[in-house]
Amino acid sequence: MLTIAVSKGRIYEEALPLLAEVGIEPIDDPKTCRKLILRTTRDDVQLVIIRATDVPTFVEYGAADLGIAGKDVLLEHGAESLYEPLDLNIARCRLMTAAHKNAPPPYGRIRVATKYVKIAQKYFASQGIQAEIIKLYGSMELAPLVGLADCIVDLVDTGNTLRANDLEPREHIMDISSRLVVNKAAMKMKNQAIASLLDQLEKNIAQKN
Ligand code: ATP
Ligand code: PRP
Ligand code: MG
Repeated sequence: MLTIAVSKGRIYEEALPLLAEVGIEPIDDPKTCRKLILRTTRDDVQLVIIRATDVPTFVEYGAADLGIAGKDVLLEHGAESLYEPLDLNIARCRLMTAAHKNAPPPYGRIRVATKYVKIAQKYFASQGIQAEIIKLYGSMELAPLVGLADCIVDLVDTGNTLRANDLEPREHIMDISSRLVVNKAAMKMKNQAIASLLDQLEKNIAQKN
């Protein structure tokens, strides 16, 4: 049995067609069903539905053989203990700094609100900017509006969320997409099944790009 960890929402929605192309179609729909283990049309494959930030943990401990996670989550988690063989090219966005549209450029020591503490620390250090990082778990865009922080580090896709909150994108930190990650022991123990799945996925993704 191969267990694949996926988060509900956009990664699940965007991964479904890729999985369907390799014959993996969930039997239940996580939008309507409260089950966390989903059987699929392939008897040897099941999906487990977890929070996006928990995907590296499940795969690291071998609770799932494979997982699908954003590069943002993998970098923040520190996923050196996982294989990351495939860029699935889904859930694409950019990790950026953003500030109020009227705010001056950063000067001196700044306060930054983000859920990406490690990435932000590394980024501002690389820019020679002194930054105090304030960890948040969501609604980062609110922080500059209420005086909690000078700027934020967050994901940007259309820019709608920033615009709706009178913020603007400033520095581009990196492009983000979702990756397939594999538990190292599983890669050895279940090599045939995993290698063949990787191979099929890779061919299908290459055709699209
Ligand atoms: P939770 O809802 O559990 O707090 P989350 O907000 O991290 O989790 P999602 O919004 O589904 O969950 O994000 C999962 C991944 O999708 C992110 O780690 C990122 O890689 C990518 N992502 C997030 N927001 C966007 C977006 N607006 N456009 C494209 N990709 C995105
Ligand atoms: C994500 C991200 C930004 C927004 C960016 O939020 O945290 O707030 O998307 O996308 P945009 O540039 O197209 O507006 P999400 O939709 O995942 O909501 P969340 O706060 O529930 O995570
Ligand atoms: Mg989100």
